[in-house]
Amino acid sequence: MALPVFSGGFRAARLSGMVPARRGRWAGGDDREEDEMAKRTVVTMPGDGIGNVVLPEAIRVLDAVGFEAEYVEAGIGWKHWVEEGNPLPEKTVELIAKHKVALFGAITSKPKDKAAEELRPELRDKGFVYFSPIVALRQRFDLDISIRPCTAFPGNPLNFVRRGADGGLEEPPVDAVVFRQNTEGLYSGVEWTNPPAQVREALATHPKFRRFTEVPPEDLAISTRIFTRAACRRICEEAFAYARRHGYSSVTICEKPNVLRETSGMMVEEGRTVKADYPEIDLWETNIDAQMMWLTKNPEDYGVIVAGNMFGDIISDGFAGLVGGLGFAASANIGREVGVFEPTHGSAPKYAELDPPIVNPIAMILSAAMMLDWLGEEAKARRIREAIAAVVAEGRVRTYDMLKLRGGPRAIEQGAATTTEMTDAIIAKLG
Ligand code: IPM
Ligand code: MG
Repeated sequence: MALPVFSGGFRAARLSGMVPARRGRWAGGDDREEDEMAKRTVVTMPGDGIGNVVLPEAIRVLDAVGFEAEYVEAGIGWKHWVEEGNPLPEKTVELIAKHKVALFGAITSKPKDKAAEELRPELRDKGFVYFSPIVALRQRFDLDISIRPCTAFPGNPLNFVRRGADGGLEEPPVDAVVFRQNTEGLYSGVEWTNPPAQVREALATHPKFRRFTEVPPEDLAISTRIFTRAACRRICEEAFAYARRHGYSSVTICEKPNVLRETSGMMVEEGRTVKADYPEIDLWETNIDAQMMWLTKNPEDYGVIVAGNMFGDIISDGFAGLVGGLGFAASANIGREVGVFEPTHGSAPKYAELDPPIVNPIAMILSAAMMLDWLGEEAKARRIREAIAAVVAEGRVRTYDMLKLRGGPRAIEQGAATTTEMTDAIIAKLG
């Protein structure tokens, strides 16, 4: 399959293409029959709260743009935790393993104690431990590459503005794409309170652990930050390849190697190795703390940004805040075989039951467009993004977040569009 080509024009079209379909299942290496390939089956996981509101809206847009697929719904989230002690049912895992592509809405995550309290009484004290099902999904299918584009749509009143030297307001064109390592680091899940004796002994071989040897084990909490060279290499390779394909002039490795010498150090090392094959692209190295400051001063300087799991989580929300916030933040979780596409917002339970619904469906719809790119349907993806751009630029239909209103039933009478009105407006602009 030919690589997606950036055709210029509208800036968001730069996002039309991502880890290309050659890495997706449709481009070969699949043993299914041709005719079965023609009609895709997409697993849908609305999950909790507003996931159930926005996901059907994305499907309406996919239908309207002429994407032919069957959808099979799979359960995930809080309800399954409470009822089954497992927020990621095996049936869901099987469906994803079979169909290889999924849309995901949102899930509710709560801390350990709260999660345990809400379990069905029969399941309590049986050793069930809550672990975020989206994090589990990323690990289960080795969806190690998370892509989070943060591109401002011109005309969005939520875009970042700053004061220029002459005191006037300027709106720099933010167009960054975060490549977040999605399966390792602080999210590995290797952690303890009251770690076993062997763990303490192993740690005691490190001179820096001496300070902690007298701490009673029950007062000791440890979360590990594990990086592997292969995963660091892959995220850097994907980031540079994307930068080349989409005409970005720099890749920034955003870590903290001055303190986290081993893990961040390994990411930087791999970034430098990969860079050698990309003479036309600059490699910048930043520390996460300074990067968070710079992104509020000169966000337009950054293009592709690579970070480990935790820093990638932080910096992608940081950049999302400059281009409209979570209502605009789409993401792809991509492995060698499977792709799961999700908005990065949460489940916002307090808005889930509002009738009519008021939440902004754009992040979910943009995530569906990322799915189309991955499936090799770049033209349809581009049409969706251009339709969103047209609606935003026109400014007639705006959800409550875009009007900076407080969310709630009154938002509609204050002039906010409903979720469905926003989707309708986008559909009406599909060229
Ligand atoms: C994200 C979210 C998740 C994460 C949560 C819901 C576990 O914040 O996708 O960015 O931390 O990865
Ligand atoms: Mg996050």
